[in-house]
Parts: sequence; C-alpha cells; structure tokens
Amino acid sequence: MPLRVWLYVLAWSAASALVMMSGTVERLEVCQNKHCRKRGGATTLKRLQELAPATVSVEIADMSHTEHGCFDECTMGPNVRVNGAPQTDEGRVVNGVKTEDDARRVLQLLA
Ligand code: FES
Repeated sequence: MPLRVWLYVLAWSAASALVMMSGTVERLEVCQNKHCRKRGGATTLKRLQELAPATVSVEIADMSHTEHGCFDECTMGPNVRVNGAPQTDEGRVVNGVKTEDDARRVLQLLA
C-alpha cells in the first residue's frame, strides 16, 4: 500500500479516536434525490467532504422512511441536514447549499 494511503488511514483513525473520546459526532447529510441532484447536490456533497474537518461525517442523506425519500424541501435544494440521523426527522435542514461560501456557512453551524 502506498505511503499516502497509509498516512490517510492513520489520520482517519486518529480523528475517529478523538471523536469517540469526545463523544461528539457531528453529521452533515446531503440530499441526493432527484431534485437536489438537478440543482447541484452532487457538487455540494463533494465540496462538503473536501471542506469538513475529520470530526464531521458527511454522508448521503437516508430519508427512505419518508414518502418521497428526501427532506421534502425539493424546490429549495440542494438541501443539507445538520446533525440529524438517518431515517429520522431530527436535525436542521439548510436550503440552497450551492457555492463554496454556502458550504462554509453550513460548517460554521457546527461550531
Ligand atoms: S430532492 Fe432533496 S429535498 Fe427533495
């Protein structure tokens, strides 16, 4: 395995250990359903994955428990939920997260 991959695994493990020790798991979930994807949801997901610190989990939203499989705020996407949990209605949904500035504002909500 190349050195770069080993370093990445080591950094990821250290960050995971810190999260476990602090008991704090922060989560961002990005809607990848039809309407949010049309509005740039895939770019939003990638951007947040790149910008988020290792202590923040950035995931594809799992809203399979809802009728439409999303946050049902489709016309205002791309939508990102802050500190929710998969298949629940917990957390805060932020609408229109398109630009890098938008992504940084979402990350500030975690601070
Ligand atoms: S498609 Fe994203 S909230 Fe409905």
